[in-house]
This record gives sequence, structure tokens and C-alpha cells, in this order.
Amino acid sequence: MPLDRHERGLGTLRISVTDRCNLRCVYCMPEDNYVWLDDASILSVDELARIAKAFVAQGVREVRLTGGEPLLRPDLEAIVRRLSQLGVDLALTTNGVLFGPRARALREAGLSRVTISLDTLDPERARKLSKTTRLGDVLASLDAAREAGFTGTKLNTVVMRGRNDDELANIVDLARSKGAEARFIEYMDVGGATRWEMSDVVPMAEIVARVGQAFGGATAASAPRGSAPAQRYRTGDGATFGVIASTTQPFCGTCDRARITADGVLFTCLYAERGVDLRGPLRAGASAEALGERIAQTWRARADRGAEERLNAPERRALVPVTRLRADPHREMHTRGG
Ligand code: GTP
Ligand code: 5AD
Ligand code: SF4
Repeated sequence: MPLDRHERGLGTLRISVTDRCNLRCVYCMPEDNYVWLDDASILSVDELARIAKAFVAQGVREVRLTGGEPLLRPDLEAIVRRLSQLGVDLALTTNGVLFGPRARALREAGLSRVTISLDTLDPERARKLSKTTRLGDVLASLDAAREAGFTGTKLNTVVMRGRNDDELANIVDLARSKGAEARFIEYMDVGGATRWEMSDVVPMAEIVARVGQAFGGATAASAPRGSAPAQRYRTGDGATFGVIASTTQPFCGTCDRARITADGVLFTCLYAERGVDLRGPLRAGASAEALGERIAQTWRARADRGAEERLNAPERRALVPVTRLRADPHREMHTRGG
């Protein structure tokens, strides 16, 4: 396994299988129209499998499929079937709108785990936060996940001050009633045409205090968290939840994640300006070894600690201005796979 310049090993690969999305979440892709990746550049099932295999040969043990919204790919089951043969822990992050009807097929194809985004339990708020009327389908997808045999399901909630921070206890309760675990994510200033401001962020300490108030306290789990982004907690009445404090307490020091975009660009940091193209060599017939060497080289050269560097930004606002996002969609969070 290659080590980077901060001695971090490569362990996880996040693959964005599409940059398209059927929602428009305020914290991610609030605009109606975007510059999309070119259809001809999107990696096929076979190309994704070859790239993933090269990462596994370099030490990757966990692969997560993200987007945009991965369920927009009609061949997602085929992708899962191919990647599940690599012997890795294979997980999916979805907004849940289209997941329910395909849960069983994805499970049978070899998907190990699923994380479903849920920012509110209120249909009117869901309309405002994500421009969707399909909250019911998202909730149904949680049941579908359980019925299809998934365990360890997580619910991702991006917490925004004044918009959904009064719902945390209800979300913990809902998750536990569905056999899932809630995870609260600090709103990040990364990518995206968001109107991010520090005052919108609810810091981890406040999230924990609020949940604790509702359930007789909350204490941090003692198990070491390794390279996972979430710090886990247990409430006084036995519920568990996680908090991902990317904004106020970043975890770059233990980051083992590489990400590739749907058109095969490798990024080692969510905040990175540039990536390394893998599609070109792949389509030019590069051998598995050559591809692996390109990945290892990129990883060894890695020195980024994007979220930590943001802590020192003199005036913190959304990372990339909208005009630059239009010129380079690779800087969008939804292209990089969150
Ligand atoms: P598991 O721990 O395997 O369940 O996965 P995960 O927590 O990596 O998965 P998920 O896709 O649910 O990620 C949750 C959120 O954590 C993402 O949407 C991001 O908001 C944040 N996140 C994931 N990876 C990184 C990272 O490398 N850096 C930062 N700053 N945030 C990340
Ligand atoms: N801040 C925090 N998390 C974000 N996501 C997307 N944009 C942001 C942001 N600005 C994450 C959410 C969502 C996943 C797909 O991407 O966790 O659930
Ligand atoms: Fe789509 Fe997910 Fe981004 Fe929301 S967070 S717009 S569901 S990619």
C-alpha cells in the first residue's frame, strides 16, 4: 500500500458513478442548470471495474459508490455485480428517492451497505431544501433497505442552522425505529454554488448537546474511529448516532480516501483544485500495472489537507465562485462524490 507525504495509507475509494442528480439540495447543487460531464466521457461498467481493480491492487479495501445520484444509472446493478467480485466492502450513498424499488436487486448484486440522505421529516421543508415532493419515497426506501436484508444502514443529515437543526432528535428516533443510524454532517464550504456562510454551520458540540438534551445525555463512543469521518455517540437511552465535523474539526490526518469522478479523474481531496486523469490512459490501453503505478504515484505525492487548511482561511465563504464552477464542473461537490 502506498503512503502519502503525511504517512497516510490508501484504503478507501469513492466512485462518483454520475454527476447528474434528480434533487437540488441547497448545500450541494442548488441551481436548476449545470454544465454536465460529456456523455462520451462517462466510464462504462467495464471501465469502472478495471479502475476499481487497479485501486484494490494498491490496497483499497472499501469502495463507496456516490454521485450525483447513483440510482440515475440504469446499469447500477451491473456495476455493483462487477465490483462485488473484488472482495471489498461495497457501499452506496443515495438520496433515497429511487432506491426502494431497486433495493432487493442491488442487495442480490452484492451491495454490502447503504447510506440514505435525509435532511428533514417535514414535506414542506423537503421541498425547500431539496426541491423534492418525494419525501415519502425516501422514507419508504429505508423500509425497503431493511426488507432487502441490509444492515448497518445510515441516514445522512446535513445540519443547517435555522433550517433543520430543530429536527435532530426526531431524526435519531426515526433512524432507530428503522434499524438505521443517524449521522449529522456539518455543512461544508466545499464545491457547489451554495450560499454557504459560517453562521449556517451548527458545530459538532452543539449537535451533540442538542441530541443529548432530548435523550438523557450523549457520550462519545470509546472505540477508536480509525479513518472514518464520523465520531460516534451513545445517548442516555441507548440510541447511537454519528457526527461528521468536517468543517469545525476536520479529520484530514487520518484520511485514507481517494475519489474518482464519473469520467475517471482521480482526486485525493474534496477540496483539491486539480485531479489526475485515469480515463485517458485506460482508453489508450494502459495495462493494469501501468494504471496501478499511476494511482500509487499520485497517492505518494499527496500532501493535501484541504479541510484543515480551510480552518485558516482569512474570510471563509463557499470555496469556489459560481463562474469558476461553470468553467470547470470537476470542482463541484456533486461531480466529486461528496
Ligand atoms: P462509511 O464510514 O464507510 O459508512 O462511509 P462514509 O462516512 O465515508 O460515507 P458517506 O458517503 O455517507 O460520507 C458522509 C459524508 O462525510 C460525505 O457526504 C461528506 O460530507 C463527508 N466526507 C466523506 N469523506 C470525506 C472526506 O474525505 N473529507 C471530508 N472533509 N468530508 C468527507
Ligand atoms: N456539506 C456537507 N455535506 C454535503 N454533502 C453534499 N454537499 C455537502 C455540503 N456542502 C453530502 C451529504 C449528502 C452527500 C451525498 O453529500 O452528506 O448526504
Ligand atoms: Fe443530489 Fe446528493 Fe447533491 Fe442532494 S446532496 S443535490 S441528492 S448529489
